[in-house]
Amino acid sequence: MSLENLLLDRDGAVAILTINRPPVLNALNSATLDELRRAVLDVRHDAAIRVLIITGAGEKSFVAGADINEIAALRPAQGKEHARQGQHLFELIENLGKPVIAAINGYALGGGCELAMACTLRLAANTARLGQPEINLGIMPGYAGTQRLARLVGKGVALDLLLTGRQVEADEALRIGLVNRVVPRESLMAEAKALAAEIAAKAPIALQYIIESVNRGLEVSFDQAQFLEATLFGLVASTDDMREGTTAFLQKRKPQFSGS
Ligand code: COA
Repeated sequence: MSLENLLLDRDGAVAILTINRPPVLNALNSATLDELRRAVLDVRHDAAIRVLIITGAGEKSFVAGADINEIAALRPAQGKEHARQGQHLFELIENLGKPVIAAINGYALGGGCELAMACTLRLAANTARLGQPEINLGIMPGYAGTQRLARLVGKGVALDLLLTGRQVEADEALRIGLVNRVVPRESLMAEAKALAAEIAAKAPIALQYIIESVNRGLEVSFDQAQFLEATLFGLVASTDDMREGTTAFLQKRKPQFSGS
């Protein structure tokens, strides 16, 4: 696959996708969104990849949002279409079937914050700054930022961030639950790779079903969510990895999960 705006690297069972437009702080134009969709689909279908890390190129930025040059030129009907495309892509990332770790190396603003929120886990450098500044441009988030932010940090804090457009530093992002962990900037990628390797050694089907159970379960009634969880439990309890995991525990050895 030829990629102009992304880098896709492999490190064992971990793939690393780097948004690579440093002159515009890795802003997402349509070409980049399109490449991201193709790269993410490739990762989805490659069973040897167990975990995906998404990060940004350069020292300053994860992703500084949608490309404002393109946003400025949108006509009304195009705006809706643009938002729907972004929403579909981020939904694909949220439900990729394997864990996705955002390694937030700097600004994660607008579409960048929305991209990070679509990932399964968020690891932030202590220099990271996150926010939804769309209101300052006279617009609003369009890649499901109003929805994922409210679900992650609660309605009150989400409305504060969405209506003021203010940026939060890494420590505040951690306190409000917008990121999972904060690490020194210089060790961000090492920490992201270590976390990815730790998760990559676990049973892939169980990982997939846990993510599905949380994501889908939050969108339906508690009763339906419990039913979904029990159904997925039934499936995971029929896997080879269930037998391996339980046998390894009883034999006091480390499990070797095959993904079947
Ligand atoms: N779209 C297009 N270009 C962008 C961009 C975006 N979202 N974010 C930054 N850039 C460009 C800048 O226009 C600038 O280009 P130039 O060198 O040709 O002037 C370059 O990236 C560097 O950005 P600059 O603003 O000079 O860096 P800074 O350190 O002073 O500020 C930010 C960094 C992130 C605070 C600032 O760039 C910013 O506010 N960006 C927009 C964030 C935003 O509103 N995102 C939501 C978009 S819907």
